[in-house]
This record gives sequence, structure tokens and C-alpha cells, in this order.
Amino acid sequence: MKIAKLPGDGIGPEVVEQAVKAVDAICAKFGHEVSYTSALVGACAIEATGSAYPDSTHQLCLESDAVLFGAVGDPKYDNDPTAKVRPEQGLLAMRKNLGLYANLRPVETFDKLVGKSPLKEELVSGADFMCIRELTGGMYFGKKGREDNGDTAYDTNIYHRYEVERILKLGFEYAMRRRKHLTVVDKANVLESSRLWRQIAQEMAPKYPEVTTDYMFVDNAAMQLVRQPKFFDVMVTENTFGDILTDEASVITGSMGLLASASIGIHTSVFEPIHGSYPQAAGKNIANPLATILSAAMMFEYAFGLMEEGKAIRKAVTASIDEAYVTEDLAAGGKAYSTSEVGDWVANYIKNN
Ligand code: IPM
Ligand code: MN
Repeated sequence: MKIAKLPGDGIGPEVVEQAVKAVDAICAKFGHEVSYTSALVGACAIEATGSAYPDSTHQLCLESDAVLFGAVGDPKYDNDPTAKVRPEQGLLAMRKNLGLYANLRPVETFDKLVGKSPLKEELVSGADFMCIRELTGGMYFGKKGREDNGDTAYDTNIYHRYEVERILKLGFEYAMRRRKHLTVVDKANVLESSRLWRQIAQEMAPKYPEVTTDYMFVDNAAMQLVRQPKFFDVMVTENTFGDILTDEASVITGSMGLLASASIGIHTSVFEPIHGSYPQAAGKNIANPLATILSAAMMFEYAFGLMEEGKAIRKAVTASIDEAYVTEDLAAGGKAYSTSEVGDWVANYIKNN
């Protein structure tokens, strides 16, 4: 397994290092050979090369079997709306150039943590759904610009039929493999692009008669996510809505530090936590590495089809939560362990179980 390691900015390097420990432990246990090559992306890449996603990084990704990604972002750029190049462009260019049109963000609850959620325990306990976010279209990539000497700005929310079809197909297929319930989230009462989504979904639904398909406006979906998270099985939606709703959904679990993701599509798949670069914690060895470790579990499952390996990582993560061997975001007044301590604990658990 040739893995491209793209730690990026902020807490990225710390959390990716812990995922690497888990991957190494798995490979030792199951007899796989693994090699890593590191490359720059985000603010650190801008500093070193002027580009947020240098060609050399892209080449490495193309030649690798999977990409393990940390985070990008730096507050320095957040408050400078005139910056010519931004760390986030690195992530967006990577998604676009690798053709990663689908972002899979599973939302699962851990029994031990249901009390950590700001939502009532009975609402959260047992919630388990998959958000499928379209990742290379919509407003993120549509024509954008300024007019009127800069006093007017626009971003175009554009979708082509083929983009909508391929992501909805994935949605139906995931629903077939799960509880056969697909929720298509859009804003078809207002947006033309959403009406195209809904039209295509209605065309496709008869091909999946076993799947119960429902349609939900995004504002309502934002409410239902916290009102009845267990309603959802598979949710599919466009890029911007998916960005927003998955941050919201991460709270159901109890901590954003637990949400993993896989970005899949045409070229090499990318595995990354959804939490971002968390600059306040960078270098402090306090960030929760579990989302990145769970992303490594998704890597075994999705990139290599190695389900047992993925399961072994999940078991170790659950054990660390059950044993309260966790970072401060999950410690709930108990002892908080450091990022690297949690990483070592998980790797050791894998080795010994
Ligand atoms: C995410 C992030 C990115 C996005 C940013 C960093 C560009 O928020 O992966 O959800 O908006 O897609
Ligand atoms: Mn986001």
C-alpha cells in the first residue's frame, strides 16, 4: 500500500501521525506492507512553494493507492479577504483534480458518549446515518467574481446532469446496502439547480423500488437533524448544503473530533477528518486524533476493501472511548490524555487484541 501523507496545517500533522501509528499496527498484525510519502498542502505549501496544491503533491496523490489527509487553514488568511491564494484552495484543487465527487461522512454514536451530545440522550442513542455530500460542483466551483469595482460579488451554483446522476446513484446504492431509506436534501422551492436534482432523483427512484426515497428542503433538514436524527439512513445533498449539514451532524456524536470522511471518485481516494485545522490547538498535543484514526479505518475499507482491518481500528477506537482514554474534548471532567497518548493507546490496543 502506497500511502500519500498530506498532514497540512494546524493540528493536521499531529492527528495524522496518530493515524499512521494505527495503520502501522494494523499492517504489522495483518501482514500488509505499507509505505508513506509526505507532501505539502494548504498554508504550509503556500509558504514553501507559492501554491496551495503544488504539482508535485498532485503527482504523488495520483501515484498513490490512498491519501491520508490532515487539515488545511490558517487564521492569517481568514481575516484577509483580499489574499490572492488561500490554503483552502489546496483542498479544493485536490478534490477537483482527483475527481473526488463524493464525500462520505458517516455519523455514528458511541454508547459511552451519548451523554456528551448537547441533544437529549434518547434522541441520539443509536443514531446512525451516512451523509453523502457532492464535492466537486455547485457554488464551490461555479463561476465567481466581482463587478462594480468590487462592490458586487457572485458565486454561481451550477450543476450538470452527469454530476447529479453520479452522486444520486451512489446515494441509492448506499441506501440499498443499509436500511433502504434515502433522503434527498435540496432547496427546490427556490433554486433551479435544486429542481434539477429533484427531477433527476425522481427519474432514478423507480430503478430502486426497494428504497424509500424522500425529499426534504435543506432548512427543514437542518431542523430534523437535531429534532430526530434517527430519522436518517442515507442523506444525499449538494456541496454547500453538505458542508453545513455535516458540521451540524457532527455534534450529534458528541464531538467534532470523532467524524471521519472518505472522498471518492475518479482517481485516488482521500481520507480525512472533518474538523479542520483547529489552529488554537496546533502544536499543543491536545487535539482529538480519533476522527483521523477512524478515517484510516475508512481507508482500509473503501480504498483496499479490507473490512477486517477497518473493523479492528474501529474496535480499538471504541475501546479507548469505553476506557475513557480520550482527549480533553471527551474527558468530561475526567483525566484528559494527550493526542499522542491516545494514538499510542489505540495502536497498542490493535497490537494486543
Ligand atoms: C470541509 C471544509 C472545507 C469545505 C474547507 C476547508 C474548504 O470545511 O471539508 O468541510 O468547505 O469543504
Ligand atoms: Mn466544512
